[in-house]
Amino acid sequence: MKTAWRGIMAEYASFFGFPAPDSIVTLQEGGTPLIPLDRIARELPVPISLHAKFEGANPTGSFKDRGMTLAVSRAAARGARALICASTGNTSASAAAYGVRAGLRVFVVIPEGKISRGKLAQAIVHRATVIQVEGLFDQALAIVREVASTHPIALVNSVNPDRLEGQRSVAFEIVDQLGSAPDYHFLPVGNAGNITASWAGYNAYREAGRLSALPRMMGVQAEGAAPIVLGHVVEKPETLASAIRIGNPASWQGALDAARDSGGTIFSVSDEEILEAYHLLASREGVFCEPASAASLAGCLKKARAGGFSGGERVVLTLTGHGLKDPETVFRTQTSEIRVPARKEEVLSVLGFS
Ligand code: F0G
Repeated sequence: MKTAWRGIMAEYASFFGFPAPDSIVTLQEGGTPLIPLDRIARELPVPISLHAKFEGANPTGSFKDRGMTLAVSRAAARGARALICASTGNTSASAAAYGVRAGLRVFVVIPEGKISRGKLAQAIVHRATVIQVEGLFDQALAIVREVASTHPIALVNSVNPDRLEGQRSVAFEIVDQLGSAPDYHFLPVGNAGNITASWAGYNAYREAGRLSALPRMMGVQAEGAAPIVLGHVVEKPETLASAIRIGNPASWQGALDAARDSGGTIFSVSDEEILEAYHLLASREGVFCEPASAASLAGCLKKARAGGFSGGERVVLTLTGHGLKDPETVFRTQTSEIRVPARKEEVLSVLGFS
């Protein structure tokens, strides 16, 4: 029998140095599919090899689980009794689930009315204490950082280095699945932890002799929430991609370093471009990701249309979270309602048969 995937800490144990395999807190995260996007790739000005790393296939539906397994395992091993995080939704969903696995209390602080319903449902169903603040993610993060520094409660935002250490695993998997690193790796940038961690992952794999050439890291922000691109804090970030509605990213420097050291860049796309990419993935490739995730394809399309590829490049997009987390965006941007009397003839007439 083929052994089942055991979660990133067991699969990549030599990269994590966690001494007690029996006390790993896991939902068997990672091992997500690397999906070819041939239809989209064929329609680009020049053909490239395009793949999506579909992080929506993680247990709580986003890449956050990769960092949460390590952060919660280490927090529990240190004797923590409770976890806290600020979140635009996915971190809180993941913290809530892993908190249950570890038997810890979980407090999540979120910007009121600004996280998608699916993510809120996850935090609630896992019995986290959900605190909505009348403010932004950035303010929520400042509060939980202070609380965690003065109280015995483990902070599991990506300012916790264990989170980033775990999130390196996406790069390990991409290299294992592709046989090498891609030439370009596009991913959405919000708090900027993931681009920092992915870049660190490629470098760790290279140091371990499992990889020679490194990819260019292409970080994509939403135009209305693009502090790194603009070079200053955005006081009132605005984008329909609520997961990356962040005006003052914690790993700002890490993102700049990743872009510079890899020969990549951080740039922005409009909400319209994000939506176009979101619908393309769903309607042309059968891949349903959340809006923030589609920023990576939007960025890739923008580069392709500007003549930025010469042909044949290998490109990977991280699709960070599952589309089901945010069904509202579908209903807001698309309609499909056909009602007929409950008779076969009526249904056939819609099908175009009589
Ligand atoms: N995509 C999704 C779906 C996210 O949830 C996030 C971040 C990002 C991209 C950006 O990643 O912050 O590492 O640059 N979500 C955080 C949260 C902020 O609270 O769930 P990043």
